[in-house]
Amino acid sequence: MSSVDSPRESWATRLGFIFAAVGSAVGLGNVWRFPFQVGQEGGGAFLLIYLLFIVLVGFPAMLVEFVAGRYTERNPVGALKQLGTGLWEYVGWIFVVTGFVILSYYSVVAGWTIRYAVLGLQDGYLADVEAAEAQFGSLAVGLEAIVLHALFMAVVVTVVAFGVERGIELAVKVLVPAIIVIAVGMAIYAFTLEGAGEAYVYYLAPDLEVLADDWRSIVPAAAGQAFFTLSLGMGVMLTYASYLQEDRNLATDGAIIIGFDTAIAFIVGLIVFPVLFTAGVDPAAPGPGAIFVSLAAAFGDLTLGWLVGAVFFATVAVAALSSAISLLEVLVSYLIDERGIGRVPATVALGGGLFVLGIPSALDLVLLDLFDGFADQILLVLGGLLLSVLVGWRRSDLAITELELGIGDLGPYGDAWIWAVRIPVIAALLVALTLGVLGYIEFLQDDFWPWIQEL
Ligand code: PHE
Repeated sequence: MSSVDSPRESWATRLGFIFAAVGSAVGLGNVWRFPFQVGQEGGGAFLLIYLLFIVLVGFPAMLVEFVAGRYTERNPVGALKQLGTGLWEYVGWIFVVTGFVILSYYSVVAGWTIRYAVLGLQDGYLADVEAAEAQFGSLAVGLEAIVLHALFMAVVVTVVAFGVERGIELAVKVLVPAIIVIAVGMAIYAFTLEGAGEAYVYYLAPDLEVLADDWRSIVPAAAGQAFFTLSLGMGVMLTYASYLQEDRNLATDGAIIIGFDTAIAFIVGLIVFPVLFTAGVDPAAPGPGAIFVSLAAAFGDLTLGWLVGAVFFATVAVAALSSAISLLEVLVSYLIDERGIGRVPATVALGGGLFVLGIPSALDLVLLDLFDGFADQILLVLGGLLLSVLVGWRRSDLAITELELGIGDLGPYGDAWIWAVRIPVIAALLVALTLGVLGYIEFLQDDFWPWIQEL
């Protein structure tokens, strides 16, 4: 059934939207990606730039997606067609492609978290870093990784197939509070560890020399991470806002969502780094496996680490689920709205395609890097940039009017927001995108090309 002959679905309760948006934002980005980006990009220096991007770019950019979604009441492709003409119509396609790429490897990483939760309960973790590294190498790629990727994808498909109200809202209402309670408990536990003091300095005190030396990689990494963790730049927030009634205060909602997401990532850092420093593990150990290798080794070193570790990884898997649901929801809403395909067949077909596209990431970490780097440092930032240009420069009239619904007259704040989007947000995203493209070319030359030659 298409949107023309059936009323569009909407959130069942007032809090449904907030829960779902927080559930989307909080995921592997906070727990898997954030700590290894901090570790790779020099600790506190990265944290500082990341927080600046969250507040100064992420917040206005989130409002852009909200107004675009609520105004058009469409999926990203339909929304862009309605907001712009000519080439703008195709920008929605970037969102769909981005979501497809991200979800394919996201599901693989989610599969690892399931494996590591089971690992703690079954065998416990290996305290020796090299042994843990070898173990990650065998668990992360190969048949087992593919099977767990399939399992995770199947769960996501099941939830999304039930529809916006019954599936997503129900799931996140339980998941989000559970994640918060567990994360806070574990941060308190981590505070008691011997390496906590050293870890806090590394994590919380920005080293300005590191910043001066490495800003070319820190800036795009921080921008990409900010967009990834806030679920911006690929139409998730746009789609979720499209199911909204017009009485919600989007600015307050945005601030709440960003507050929760940032707090959880920050708290995860307060868990991860004390554990790493206590076990003597280098936080800069690079690559997408860093968190699994070093954390597992750290948990292996601690009393009752198997239990704490199993709880930790299970929580991550749960957080990943609500984010993956949101990614799939965008793709499904496109097929329902634009193609008139039913929810269940659309969901199942996409799940199958995503499973296939994810297989390379479950076969070699270089391929996962290839997908992740492209989606995160290029596609997400590009999507956010283009939407900001369209809404900020071409449709600013309707943007302010739409934002005012549910808030009231914004006066000078409306203009302040639009001008923030028009100049600083767009400039920051342009710089980040340029550096991101250069960094990705470097990755292709230094890592991917040699990998191809070795085949
Ligand atoms: N924000 C999610 C996370 O941090 C990932 C995500 C990215 C979800 C983009 C939707 C869109 O894990």
